Amino acid sequence: MSVDRRRRIAVVPGDGIGLEVIAEQKKVLRLLDERRALGLELVDKDWGAERWLREKVGLPKGALADLADNYDAITFGALGDPRIPDMAHGREILLGMRQGLDLYANMRPVLCMDDSLSPLKGKGEREIDFVCFRENTEDLYVSTGGVFKEGTPDEIAQDISVNTRKGVERILRYAFEYAKKTGRKKVTMTDKHNAVRFGGGLWKRTFEALKPQYPDIVAEHLFVDVAAMEFVRHPERFDVVVANNLFGDILTDLGSALMGGLGLAASANIHPGRIGLFEPVHGSAPDIAGKGVANPLAAFSTAALMLDFLDASAEARLIDDAVRACLKRGPRTPDLGGQGKTGDVTEFVLDELARTL
Ligand code: NAD
Ligand code: IPM
Ligand code: MN
Repeated sequence: MSVDRRRRIAVVPGDGIGLEVIAEQKKVLRLLDERRALGLELVDKDWGAERWLREKVGLPKGALADLADNYDAITFGALGDPRIPDMAHGREILLGMRQGLDLYANMRPVLCMDDSLSPLKGKGEREIDFVCFRENTEDLYVSTGGVFKEGTPDEIAQDISVNTRKGVERILRYAFEYAKKTGRKKVTMTDKHNAVRFGGGLWKRTFEALKPQYPDIVAEHLFVDVAAMEFVRHPERFDVVVANNLFGDILTDLGSALMGGLGLAASANIHPGRIGLFEPVHGSAPDIAGKGVANPLAAFSTAALMLDFLDASAEARLIDDAVRACLKRGPRTPDLGGQGKTGDVTEFVLDELARTL
């Protein structure tokens, strides 16, 4: 089969189970590439704790420009190493890519793929199916602030939540546009403007101003504390959820629990027209790293999000189907109550794909 298009992908496995699940993800991508001539060119990057500790290099000089100019996508595993307790390398590499490439929309689907995975009584595949958008470049994540009188009883520590009209408007618009494009009916904006006056106020006003432009979509507001409760009580009421950076981070770990756990939750970091960054929601899981039991399915679903982004949607759907089949009939890793190893899950998914390709 001839290749009609090259798709150049930077592969950043990172640390801990990031290394393990990305090694498995590459097998899935390679199989699809062999059978469907996708033109995938996978270029490994050793950015992570080892290199940081060895050379004090996180994101090498010129890396962001190289990514932006020479790649179509980045697939990322996870960062986090007990030897770097302040996560300095993680901020430089991961937040560096998200912020430096201005990937403002962090999309995190919450989808229960089999009733048996739901932790909620009476709620499963039919009820748990929505998409969260997390603002990905602002809020408390911008490292604006500092400490004063450090180490003294009078110490003051400040992190400033940055919210810009442009930043808030573009993520809210992205959520509305996504709903419109995918036929979802409702957008729920969550904030805390009752207590966090200025940033919250900007979110609320911007949301109100955008609403009339999307008359066919129900635009709902929930305070984020209530939203957290409603994720658990009535997940079926959600369709598209949009939140700031920190609230979105917290809500989507809760969302992953509705799916069956972090081992299943995928994410995409997007700025339309630019390179995209794709990563499972989970971290480097030092508690299970090196044991061969990490669940690779979140990384596989993440590969599907990446292939969608790279205009290979048919192949993306094949991955989604194989992941679902694995959850219904295949081996499960211990996080899902099974005794399967990482490699058993991959083998099932590869067999399933090979049968359908
Ligand atoms: P974590 O997501 O790494 O792990 C939380 C729990 O979920 C652990 O018990 C872990 O074993 C389990 N888990 C996560 N992914 C799993 C998988 N694929 N299969 C099976 N079990 C899985 O969160 P944490 O323990 O709070 O953080 C560990 C390190 O990862 C920290 O350094 C943290 O800063 C970092 N982190 C990085 C990212 C990222 O790189 N995107 C995300 C979250 C946390
Ligand atoms: C995530 C992680 C990161 C975040 C950490 C590791 C900085 O929790 O990707 O969800 O807060 O964004
Ligand atoms: Mn998180």
